[in-house]
Amino acid sequence: MAEINIEAITKTFHDSSRGREVAALDDINLSIAANDFVCLLGPSGCGKSTLLNIIAGFETPTKGRVTVDGKAVEAPGADRGVVFQQPTLMPWLTVAENIAFHLRLKGIAKAERREQAQTFIDLVGLKGFETHYPSELSGGMNQRVGIARALIMNPRVILMDEPFAALDAQTKSEMQEELVAIWQRHRGTIVFVTHSVDEALVLGNRIVVMTRRPGRIRELIELDLPRPRDVTGADFNDMKRHVLNLIKEVAAQPAAA
Ligand SMILES: Nc1ncnc2c1ncn2[C@@H]1O[C@H](COP(=O)(O)OP(=O)(O)OP(=O)(O)O)[C@@H](O)[C@H]1O
Ligand SMILES: [Mg+2]
Repeated sequence: MAEINIEAITKTFHDSSRGREVAALDDINLSIAANDFVCLLGPSGCGKSTLLNIIAGFETPTKGRVTVDGKAVEAPGADRGVVFQQPTLMPWLTVAENIAFHLRLKGIAKAERREQAQTFIDLVGLKGFETHYPSELSGGMNQRVGIARALIMNPRVILMDEPFAALDAQTKSEMQEELVAIWQRHRGTIVFVTHSVDEALVLGNRIVVMTRRPGRIRELIELDLPRPRDVTGADFNDMKRHVLNLIKEVAAQPAAA
């Protein structure tokens, strides 16, 4: 059984200030197996975040449905951890407290929270920063807190919306490596939104290339490349050429009015 089933998802937004309908997604069908790492790749405005938000349960589809483990998604749930582009941490809480925040809401005792938080602090490489506040951390470190906060709930699915977009090239590449290492060690199903071809090629088992709005699936690419990905290798670059050509073709199509 697929972990996530996206069944004929269509989403139309009503743009009330302009009195018109915006078709964001059109008939998206996709099965994602347990422990898969899928990247959603497409031009700005093609509906990537909308699709992720529907899986997360923050948005409802106009048509179709998403199931996770056979259960229809109707609202956000602890089975799906979400990491946003900006980590939205609570500035008045320390790193450890931010990471353990949801455990506190669940009523888990302080000692237990601290112990669990420490495991994930170590996992994302933040040892020594437990008592720091978000304002005392770099962008990459804040993003690590966001990832640890999602992982601590032990979700079956992690949904990530361009989590590394704001980082410099070096930090981004370190975070990508770390994410793959965490996924390999920890497992779980990842759906990762990006508009970077390189990022999708470095991270994904599969890449879903989307068309311009309304977003449809243009091509589903299986990435049969060994890990860690060798970005200078011939196979990687053949695949990159293919994906870049697809993106170029997609970008040349006009978006819906
Ligand atoms: N709440 C909303 N109301 C009206 N239109 C919306 C709403 N949310 C998204 N849209 C529209 O739906 C389309 C898809 O938006 P979405 O944010 O999913 O794109 P995206 O692929 O994530 O883009 P980007 O790469 O720039 O983040 C856009 O045209 C956007 O203007
Ligand atoms: Mg987006």
